[in-house]
Amino acid sequence: MIESDFGLIGLGVMGKNISLNVAENGYYVSVYNRSTHKEENIVADFLKEHSSYENIKGYTEISQFIQSIKRPRNIFLMIKAGDAIDAVIEQLLPFLSEDDIITDGGNSHYTDTQRRFNYLLTKGIHFVGCGVSGGEKGARHGPSLMPGCSKSTYKIISPILEAIAAKDSKSSPCCAYIGSEGSGHFVKMVHNGIEYAEMQLLAELYALLTLSFSNEEIAKVLQDWNERDLSSFLLEITSEILLKKEGDDYLLDFVLDKAGSKGTGAWSSKTAFDLGSVNSMMSSAVFSRYISSFKETRVVLAKKATHSTSYQKKIDLIALEKAYRFARIINHHQGFDLIHRASKKYNWNLKLSEIARIWTSGCIIRSQFMSDCICYFENKNDLLTNTSILNILNDGEKIISKIIQDAMANRVPIDSFWSAYNYWVSMTTAMLPAHLIQAQRDYFGSHTYQRNDNDSGDFTHTNWSET
Ligand code: 6PG
Repeated sequence: MIESDFGLIGLGVMGKNISLNVAENGYYVSVYNRSTHKEENIVADFLKEHSSYENIKGYTEISQFIQSIKRPRNIFLMIKAGDAIDAVIEQLLPFLSEDDIITDGGNSHYTDTQRRFNYLLTKGIHFVGCGVSGGEKGARHGPSLMPGCSKSTYKIISPILEAIAAKDSKSSPCCAYIGSEGSGHFVKMVHNGIEYAEMQLLAELYALLTLSFSNEEIAKVLQDWNERDLSSFLLEITSEILLKKEGDDYLLDFVLDKAGSKGTGAWSSKTAFDLGSVNSMMSSAVFSRYISSFKETRVVLAKKATHSTSYQKKIDLIALEKAYRFARIINHHQGFDLIHRASKKYNWNLKLSEIARIWTSGCIIRSQFMSDCICYFENKNDLLTNTSILNILNDGEKIISKIIQDAMANRVPIDSFWSAYNYWVSMTTAMLPAHLIQAQRDYFGSHTYQRNDNDSGDFTHTNWSET
């Protein structure tokens, strides 16, 4: 019997598509799924449906599954993040041999990945935390892959990962060695944080456009932008969503306005707080989703709001396009800054340019701007050091503030655009009122402060209430 090159655990939508992708690339694949909890027939049904793939074998017994794989075993978990990963690792351990490799392809928290990496090292097993982006289609035809592990492990797993990954404009795989232990999942988490803000910006500009334009007209505007530097996968699918009909009606009008979330956006925001990075756009996007989920309260309060919601003013399309470009730059700047800070803190030595490159195809945030970021990050780790970026932001400042005013006049909340604007204005203000904060802290808590007429950096305390 031919031993498999690759073992996959978890035949959910992503797992099925990854295994088909690997098999299509000529590798022998063993798949395993538990046969309990209403999942008795998953493996059998999958094999039946794909009976033409002679290089896929299915198992419901973990020991047989493991025995069917060539050593060092390359086992990919595509199961729900959280405790289930630890439980499956414990199930696998008695059957594994030294130097076998377990890859977690789910959206696991990077600190869990760090813990699992170190735990498995004590057992002689190598662990990989691999970010996988691209949804169902990506998994089947080419995802963007972000593996974090040791370099020697990457050497072993890379032929298969690079074969199944999406390809960039130069036909190179959208998969690269990210860094050690939790770095792959960290980078995927930030990918999702950027994704949250990109989605929220589109939702906000839709809310503005819908005041004066039909779905067809808005879709046309977005399609037009998608022909230019603003093009992105999310922009493209948004115009398709706008046009989707159910009978004579737009399907979007029947979708309940309560946005869900599985946690990666919130994790990114919390991590930004921990690392001292300002990620106001992703956190405002997370909060916007939370506010949307307070639907019942919103409906009650909406009846009590006394302000006019009457239509005030048509939105200027050219200004909106510039404001959108401005806000996207700030979003990407904040996201990459978070990655850079984590890289320094954990000594991951992450290459921002390479991360941008593997995000140019296959993943949800692929875009023309991401392709431009490859160049921007070649020698620098900060988008705001680039002259052409600064020119766009300087040109856009007045325009985005005008869009914000128009949104206020029309009573449309656009938190993410606001966050972008405020971040830029704060970052380009040499003197902020933070001296007053320092004085307040020192007043009530003797927290001390530094003086701006003394270069020593020494901290001093004043009895502020003394007359
Ligand atoms: C991807 C996506 C995918 C998923 C996230 C976000 O890169 O393919 O990011 O991982 O969409 O889990 O999900 P929520 O919006 O539900 O948090």
